[in-house]
Amino acid sequence: MSKYIIEGSNKLAGEITVRGAKNSVLPILAASILNNNMNIIFNIPDISDLKVMVKILKAIGCKVSVVENIVTIDSRNLDTVRIPEELVREMRSSIILMGAMLSRAGEVEVSYPGGCEIGVRPIDFHLKALKQLGAEIEESHGFIYCKGKNLKGADIQLDYPSVGATENIMLASIRAKGTTFIRNAAREPEIIDLENFLNAIGGKVYGAGTSVIRIDGVDSLSSVEHTIIPDRIVTGTYMVASAITKGEIILKNIQVEHIQSIIAKLRETGCSIYNNCTTLKIIGPKNISPIESLQTMPYPGVPTDMQAQMMALLTLSNGTSVVSETIFENRFKHVSELVRMGANIRILGNVAVIKGVGELTGAKVTAKDLRGGAALVLAGLAAEGTTIVDNISHIDRGYEKLEQNLLSIGANIRRTNKQLLAAY
Ligand code: EPZ
Repeated sequence: MSKYIIEGSNKLAGEITVRGAKNSVLPILAASILNNNMNIIFNIPDISDLKVMVKILKAIGCKVSVVENIVTIDSRNLDTVRIPEELVREMRSSIILMGAMLSRAGEVEVSYPGGCEIGVRPIDFHLKALKQLGAEIEESHGFIYCKGKNLKGADIQLDYPSVGATENIMLASIRAKGTTFIRNAAREPEIIDLENFLNAIGGKVYGAGTSVIRIDGVDSLSSVEHTIIPDRIVTGTYMVASAITKGEIILKNIQVEHIQSIIAKLRETGCSIYNNCTTLKIIGPKNISPIESLQTMPYPGVPTDMQAQMMALLTLSNGTSVVSETIFENRFKHVSELVRMGANIRILGNVAVIKGVGELTGAKVTAKDLRGGAALVLAGLAAEGTTIVDNISHIDRGYEKLEQNLLSIGANIRRTNKQLLAAY
């Protein structure tokens, strides 16, 4: 398995251009089957989750080509309504295809996505909403069979502002007869990007970014050219890389509006941050201040996808911080690995108490999930000595050219597939 070998303590300095958002390109690729037409999508990230979604689109009959950061999808042909089981297992967020396939073909067969490293990840909100739109759903032998040739608009109240459920309902209702409301909708920027894509192919979607989204069903959809918004979590991850190494990094091609909560929290740790709308400079503090309380929340609160990275930074603060993970039930798997590097962290349920230590020391650690793995890289950048991060295929799911970008701003990091003798 691939590993990163990181020699810590270098101050990072330089510029990084951030690419398109993983959590925007995945639902938008699912949406590309709606218009039975050509879709040209710019600013896509070169990450493994995107490759899986491309494999799925090809497997169901689309013609797909990826050149640099542009993907072209010709969705005129669809051979099957069955999403390949092994690909759903590889990437659970492919469940987002349910709504799109129902709209396009009136039926879909998908294996139960199951949980992942950070939690059970149920899809009850998705299934309840699709039934409200008139879909017939049968679940058996680990598969979900949805049928719904003539979906009808519905007034849907989500019990929780679920990102995926909001997206699946938008995709399923785009061609439904009549109007659909999604109340208590997720407000993430990726939802707005999906609304913009759907309206660009001829949909009538209003209100994304607020808690109430209205979709007026339409009969026909057209081809599209669309540019994916920058990845706010990748942006935040590089910001923490600057903060944790007392560095000075400039991030380009970002959307500052999408990272206000991250900016606020990093300023609390003592970072100096200067920005215009699409570029930001962040200077790490000489001494990292603790954060009295950091709670992950639905947007526009502090993103759960930034919890692990912020925790890595706080392990080196000059005080005690309290981090509450309110979104997922099992998103502290990076804690044991950070403790191996010398961090002082205690977990009490969904709360972690982090007592800052003077330094972290390099160690052999294992990435357990995407963002936890990124946090271990960040800790390795600041640690004294050598850190080996194993299982980095988790990190490849959501970070394009991570080691190349970090090398370009002065980090000492390399990827290896060799079986390394214990260096400790
Ligand atoms: C999306 O996951 C993101 N993934 C996640 O990013 C992100 O952490 C999450 O939203 C929250 O912002 C993609 O967009 C591909 P949810 P999603 O539905 O849609 C519960 C990353 O690292 N829930 O908003 O699955 C669920 O268990 C990934 O990039 C139900 O109970 O998140 C969780 O506790 C990780 N029933 C909470 O809601 C449901 O039917 C939020 O989940 C659906 C969700």
